[in-house]
Amino acid sequence: MLDRIRSRFRRKPSVKTLSPDNIPQHVAIIMDGNGRWAKSRGLPRVAGHHSGMKAVKRVTMAADRLGIKYLTLYAFSTENWKRPKSEVDFLMKLPQEFLAIELEELIANNVQVRMMGYKEGLPSHTLQALETAIERTAGNTGLVLNFALNYGSRKEMMDTVRQLCQEAAEGHLQPGGLTEADFEARLLSGGMPDPDLLIRTSGELRISNFMMWQLAYSELWFTEVYWPEFSEEHFLEAVSEYQRRARRYGGL
Ligand code: IPE
Ligand code: IPE
Ligand code: MG
Repeated sequence: MLDRIRSRFRRKPSVKTLSPDNIPQHVAIIMDGNGRWAKSRGLPRVAGHHSGMKAVKRVTMAADRLGIKYLTLYAFSTENWKRPKSEVDFLMKLPQEFLAIELEELIANNVQVRMMGYKEGLPSHTLQALETAIERTAGNTGLVLNFALNYGSRKEMMDTVRQLCQEAAEGHLQPGGLTEADFEARLLSGGMPDPDLLIRTSGELRISNFMMWQLAYSELWFTEVYWPEFSEEHFLEAVSEYQRRARRYGGL
């Protein structure tokens, strides 16, 4: 009750009301609800995916303005292959469409594009668009825009375990001396800090096989808003809520 009254009187967050010394370094987003957004408007599901691209642009620019260093966007999971082929085919065309429109502006803003996921199974046109963007932005030093595409956390961890076993079998490492850092370095996210803040849109309260190791101490923020409707203001609201949280990591 008190919380509800407080939130009613709280000023709408803006870049100015956020505290500049507590900006999350890494924000990860499960961009969900495209299909339901489309359905609620009597449109085909793919129209939701298409509209979701504009939200990607809005949030990328907002993250850049805030000085966030890493933005990881869950775009396609290793489980999303279960969907009808027509929907998968549509989704696989979005990276090239997005980059054809936005790459020059991303470059102008010093954004570095990365991909976190498995190349196997992705159509060559999808990969090629991403690889071009990755190469052309490799030297950029601003926001890292990390697309989780054909990504699944269980596969990521299993592959890491397999690789460590292989290295041990070849005598390059001692199983007894294995550290968390050894494991982390071999994950697809190797080299990136863990997400400070995880956002999931569309009202689903689950992780759906996303960064399960890396999210161990992330702050979680959920909203009912469908991804195509997710605005800069929603994003600032999430960051503002993040700034009110006390992160304890098991301590006091
Ligand atoms: C998220 O929206 C995008 C992807 C998973 C690719 P959905 O397509 O899952 O939309 P809903 O959850 O069915 O509404
Ligand atoms: C998670 O959303 C994957 C992405 C947003 C890319 P899903 O819509 O696939 O998740 P579930 O099936 O509702 O758990
Ligand atoms: Mg969904």
